[in-house]
Amino acid sequence: MAFPKRLLLIGANGLLGRMVQESIPAHYDLATADLPKIDFLRPDTVAEALRKMEPEIVINCAAHTAVDACESEEAAARRINGDGPGLLAALARETRSVLVHISSDYVFDGDSAVPYREEDPPAPRCAYGRSKLAGERAILESGLERFFIVRTSWLYGPHGKNFVETVLRLAAEREELRIVSDQVGSPTLTDDLALALFRLLETDRFGIYHFSNEGSCSWHEFASAIVEGARARGQILKVREIKPIRTDEYPLPARRPPFSLLAKDKYRSATGCEVPHWRVALNRYLDRRFGSPEGK
Ligand SMILES: NC(=O)c1ccc[n+]([C@@H]2O[C@H](COP(=O)([O-])OP(=O)(O)OC[C@H]3O[C@@H](n4cnc5c(N)ncnc54)[C@H](OP(=O)(O)O)[C@@H]3O)[C@@H](O)[C@H]2O)c1
Repeated sequence: MAFPKRLLLIGANGLLGRMVQESIPAHYDLATADLPKIDFLRPDTVAEALRKMEPEIVINCAAHTAVDACESEEAAARRINGDGPGLLAALARETRSVLVHISSDYVFDGDSAVPYREEDPPAPRCAYGRSKLAGERAILESGLERFFIVRTSWLYGPHGKNFVETVLRLAAEREELRIVSDQVGSPTLTDDLALALFRLLETDRFGIYHFSNEGSCSWHEFASAIVEGARARGQILKVREIKPIRTDEYPLPARRPPFSLLAKDKYRSATGCEVPHWRVALNRYLDRRFGSPEGK
């Protein structure tokens, strides 16, 4: 492939999209698109952008990500998260582009006791998960051969709303936090996922991959580590107790998978790269946010 490679990033203003923009290696020629320029609810905008640019690579970070809203907006979720990636795959075939698409741990039911592998049967429990699975299937059925579908979980990072920032805000405002302790997964720093996407792109080992940070925790353990890490960096927080609660004590419209660890052997073997542990990634995030503890 000639350099620089023309890359179209869709969903460029979201949590992951912003980090992909920041992480882009020098040998890519980046064009970005987001609403309203590209809108999966208006397929003509997608077709026009791809046909006009004929990118060598398309990275799709756009999605309807409001998991609970998807329960009452399943038709729109299906069009954005299901039909949208299918259209992208058909256009990528036409323009001979490589497609990188992001999917989710929510395609699994969460009943497993061991980390999910790429070939495990999906069985989503909520509308968002069903719509993300529809997107994967649409790509697989499109006949496109050069694609990466990367399933990830529990994303957080510097650009936009996420669990880490919510915990930091609530811990500054309240004496008690009540956090779910019976859902286990792996937090994923957007920096590490963005890097992983470019590492996969350097290979020609197309297919479905899992990528999250290494290790596992419950939301309660994650919140405790966030508060501890912020205090170690000099933050004054009001919170005195972080109380573990069950999922049914904090009912939400969408059912979440209680266990969503993703096995990453396939990623490691394709790229030859190790995956940072979630505690290491969180420390990096907090260092950037507040300075390192040694510096205090
Ligand atoms: N966040 C997580 O914990 C998590 C976990 C697993 C997988 N994922 C997946 O990772 C990817 C990136 O997620 P994220 O957290 O970065 O999402 P995000 O911050 O919500 O960003 C999604 C982007 O898509 C855009 N978008 C929404 N509706 C659209 C439409 N109809 N047409 C075109 N663009 C549209 C949004 O624009 P507006 O902001 O203007 O609506 C936004 O820029 C998604 O595929 C998501 O399913 C996320």
